[in-house]
Amino acid sequence: MRTRVAIVGAGPAGLVLSHLLALQGIDSVVLEVRSREYVERRVRAGVLEQGSVDLLVGAGVGERLKREGMVHHGIELRFEGQGHRIPLSELTGGRAITVYGQQEVVKDLIRARLEAGGQISFEAGAVSLHDLETPAPAVRFEQGGTTHELRCDFVAGCDGFHGVCRDAVPAGGLTVFQKEYPFAWLGILAAAPPATAEIIYAYHERGFALHSMRSSQISRLYLQCRPDETLEAWPDDRIWGELQVRLGAGGGWSLTEGPILERGITTLRSFVVEPMQHGRLFLAGDAAHIVPPTGAKGMNLAIADVRVLAEALTRWYRTGEADLLEAYSATCLRRVWRAEHFSWWMTSMLHRWDGDEGIEHRLQLSQLRYVCGSKAAAMSLAENYVGLETV
Ligand code: FAD
Ligand code: DHB
Repeated sequence: MRTRVAIVGAGPAGLVLSHLLALQGIDSVVLEVRSREYVERRVRAGVLEQGSVDLLVGAGVGERLKREGMVHHGIELRFEGQGHRIPLSELTGGRAITVYGQQEVVKDLIRARLEAGGQISFEAGAVSLHDLETPAPAVRFEQGGTTHELRCDFVAGCDGFHGVCRDAVPAGGLTVFQKEYPFAWLGILAAAPPATAEIIYAYHERGFALHSMRSSQISRLYLQCRPDETLEAWPDDRIWGELQVRLGAGGGWSLTEGPILERGITTLRSFVVEPMQHGRLFLAGDAAHIVPPTGAKGMNLAIADVRVLAEALTRWYRTGEADLLEAYSATCLRRVWRAEHFSWWMTSMLHRWDGDEGIEHRLQLSQLRYVCGSKAAAMSLAENYVGLETV
């Protein structure tokens, strides 16, 4: 088997890359360890920055996104029982975010690739990378009991945080920067009409809570929990009880409850490897970096990386120039570090830090009041949240 670009992973990074390359006439093969059903059902992020929406629409895969995506012009910060609106669009010259589930983005891209004759090999196991320092690297994998070898010009490591591509770089080839947080998120998807028109980020003495949505009938909610907790410790009553208390704003506001359709616990970490390249291997998305989800940046960073990579590969195939490929890591890392900082800052401001009764709490409240009371501070949050054009 041979292709120009072997892409490992059919998440947002791998699928957007494959699609952008196809638009430039560059063929690729996507190898995905899971089944199509599995990746299309995996519930994850939901916030698209304006730039991500523009890219998907511009690339011809935004039709359903435009129809079903919910454009939001503001978010709410809730603390001390009161809501404060941050008018994102007003503060950013009209930019907005769109709430549209990650698995919907993935579904749209898989359909577009397959309809265009693109190749996605689902349930490809035992993926390993070879000859990365040569002009003809290879990816080996198993499918249906047979071992295959895919020769290519480049490998795109889009296989997420737990994938194999990052580990294919020899020891010493990457520098790791990371930070773990002493809390996690319990996320649910519920068949309950959202009790809010805009996303609510709540800071409460019992811990952080987030109210988002997927449609007029489906809510997406998150609660800060301990990183060592399991779902067994969180029966439905406890989840709803905590959400009601933490999101409570007085004045008769109450959360709409309903059957829980999906639930999961996600640990929070900040993680970056430098550089995002080794030989002919280019890492993109969660394979190269993780942000805590409080800034809603994960999926957007994945899309931003592969936009840079697609442009660099297009230039290489058109002109033989490697300058953009050589600049890939540095170009991406500027945006990555901005998002890392913003996500760390949002996380620090909005979560309850264990065992801290005094100074941290007061500093957080002061920061929240400042962000909600000062136009300059609100503007800083807003421009980062909708996504900075230049970083
Ligand atoms: P992924 O979406 O992880 O895609 C990687 C793909 O590679 C997957 O399909 C995987 O099955 C495949 N793969 C893995 N290993 C191999 C292998 N060896 N061979 C072949 N294929 C492989 N962000 C937010 O902003 N808000 C959230 O609420 C949020 N929740 C999250 C919950 C979870 C459980 C996780 C893991 C992430 C969450 N994120 C969230 C982050 C966001 O979803 C990611 O940043 C985004 O998915 C990154 O896209 P990606 O394409 O880089 O990686
Ligand atoms: C959602 C996820 C996030 O991480 C976030 O910050 C806002 C919304 C969501 O899943 O809708």
